[in-house]
Amino acid sequence: MKFDVLTLFPEMIEQGFNTSITGRAVSEGILELNTVNIRDYSKDKHNKVDDYIYGGGAGMLMFPQPVYDAYKSLNVKEGTRVVYLTPVGQTFNQKMAKEFAMEDELVFLCGHYEGIDERVIETIVTDKVSIGDYVLTGGELPVLVMMDAISRMVPGVLGNGDSSVDESFSDSLLEYPQYSRPEEWNGMKVPPVLLSGDHKKIDEWRLERSLERTRELRPDMYEKWAESHPEYFELQRKKKKKAEEKARKLAKKLAKQEML
Ligand code: ADE
Repeated sequence: MKFDVLTLFPEMIEQGFNTSITGRAVSEGILELNTVNIRDYSKDKHNKVDDYIYGGGAGMLMFPQPVYDAYKSLNVKEGTRVVYLTPVGQTFNQKMAKEFAMEDELVFLCGHYEGIDERVIETIVTDKVSIGDYVLTGGELPVLVMMDAISRMVPGVLGNGDSSVDESFSDSLLEYPQYSRPEEWNGMKVPPVLLSGDHKKIDEWRLERSLERTRELRPDMYEKWAESHPEYFELQRKKKKKAEEKARKLAKKLAKQEML
């Protein structure tokens, strides 16, 4: 998958992305990063990219020409999505990360100062995305956040051990607690089920912990999950009924034995 980033600070993007897991995926040829410095396309004699805002107001705005020419230099095929990072965009989430990961190429446009002239946004942008309800000084950190989340969803980026497949069922739930060595640390023990080797039981335990955490910390996410997984609650009801039935039978048997 290829990411093109139109920015005034390409070194920030390169340094952030070419590190750790995403950096490894770049060296392995699974991901490709191409940064374009918008300033290189300025036709102004002082290489200016921003100017005063019509109608007044504080700060400066990036004017259309360098942004448009930087975009045109990419020569991307028609239909390639162009994502503009802005606090007025749709809030980024895991579902969007998965969707974007299905594209072969994505273009990101980072604004700076007070943003970018609306006309060039209207001309080239297909998606406006925010990473949360706060205002940053530019789109570079949001792009790094988005590219990281998208990259994890690209097959081959995560090693076998830390596969994102694990997330498919517990999708939209908070992660369960995890433990490494030693088995006991500072008087605290790793939950025994995790040492049992019984993977069915371990999966059940993890899902239960995830549900518990999500219900407590993110009731909104829990509600959504519950609505879209009625089969889980049906299964739990059946299990409970079966266990109650078993307990009743056992009690009956014991009572019978006592009478003998
Ligand atoms: N640019 C400035 N703040 C932003 C945010 N919260 N999300 C995306 N882009 C931004």
